[in-house]
Amino acid sequence: MATINRKWVVRSRPIDKVEVSNFSLDEEPVPEPGDGQVLLRSEVLTVNPPMRMALVSGGITGKPYPIGRTMYGGGLARVVQSRHVDFSEGDLIQGELGWQEYSVIDPRKRLGVKKVKAPVGLPETTLMHVLGSSGATAWFGIHEFARPKAGDTFVVSTAAGSVGAIVCQLARLAGCRVIGIAGSDAKCAWVRDELGAAGVINYRTQNVEAELKVLCPNGIDIYFDNVGGEILDTVLGQIAFGARVVLCGGTSQYNHDLEWYGPKNYFNLVYKQATMSGFYVSNFAHRNEEATSRLTSLLKAGSLRYTEDVLHGIENVPLALIRILKGENFGVPLIKLV
Ligand SMILES: NC(=O)c1ccc[n+]([C@@H]2O[C@H](COP(=O)([O-])OP(=O)(O)OC[C@H]3O[C@@H](n4cnc5c(N)ncnc54)[C@H](OP(=O)(O)O)[C@@H]3O)[C@@H](O)[C@H]2O)c1
Repeated sequence: MATINRKWVVRSRPIDKVEVSNFSLDEEPVPEPGDGQVLLRSEVLTVNPPMRMALVSGGITGKPYPIGRTMYGGGLARVVQSRHVDFSEGDLIQGELGWQEYSVIDPRKRLGVKKVKAPVGLPETTLMHVLGSSGATAWFGIHEFARPKAGDTFVVSTAAGSVGAIVCQLARLAGCRVIGIAGSDAKCAWVRDELGAAGVINYRTQNVEAELKVLCPNGIDIYFDNVGGEILDTVLGQIAFGARVVLCGGTSQYNHDLEWYGPKNYFNLVYKQATMSGFYVSNFAHRNEEATSRLTSLLKAGSLRYTEDVLHGIENVPLALIRILKGENFGVPLIKLV
């Protein structure tokens, strides 16, 4: 086992785009577990768009993430040394590990870190997307808020993203006509050909308003919003009577700090007697099993597809964040450390 732990520490706040120089890769001796503690070696980490907000405005916490602290981030890790009766060497652990190679946790005190096992026949990394937070977000967003009916026209933004790709497929399985919006021709082709969308729009090269008019001639029954901003506004202008607009994320605004774009077409919600609801997946944590058991069955039956965008090595964790904020990733961002 290595004797040095490498970790990314936050050194400054992004002014505009996130830069590698906002972090430093520091070294320290691998920590020793005390009584009741375990030493973890991180195997896979992931990044997500709200990290940009957390670094500047603080996002949901309202407090910017502290300078000088190891950057937060979830992943999968292996127990390499245990001084806790319920944990053994080789156990797989999932949860908040931080951008680092090794960490010591006290399982009695650390919330959100748990022993996990991938379902037989499925890769462990599925625990980090379809069977993790992205899957739960898609599942509860759809079933609690979108409430799809067969024949509904269902539009989703960031359709090739970690959450969006699952949303596309669950909506199609519910009998909806799915229109996916994504940021490249390759992503659009995947959403159409592999995820089964009836129509796709590349928002970087096409006129979203004009394309939606052609693809949704009777209006949009459901919009699952991952981006906010102008695309949300454009969709609001084309909702159908009784539409459900589900606010999941606002990635297009995460670089804007406090100056967010506000929708001008919101009064269409009144004309169309429609609803717009935001939700936060952690409010459904007590029902995670419901989502994961259904998503496991769909994965095993080959009814759900996913793709992973893999980088290797602790050196590349900030780059993974930079890539997703530019839309350069294609699939769930994963950084493999072993
Ligand atoms: N409410 C909840 O509980 C909850 C839970 C999880 C995630 N979320 C939110 O859901 C959204 C999707 O999350 P995710 O983890 O699945 O992320 P993701 O879709 O994997 O995020 C990366 C993608 O975002 C798109 N993107 C990047 N910059 C953009 C910009 N300026 N404007 C528009 N799109 C941009 C890019 O796709 P394109 O190339 O297609 O643009 C990029 O590949 C995020 O906003 C996240 O905050 C909410």
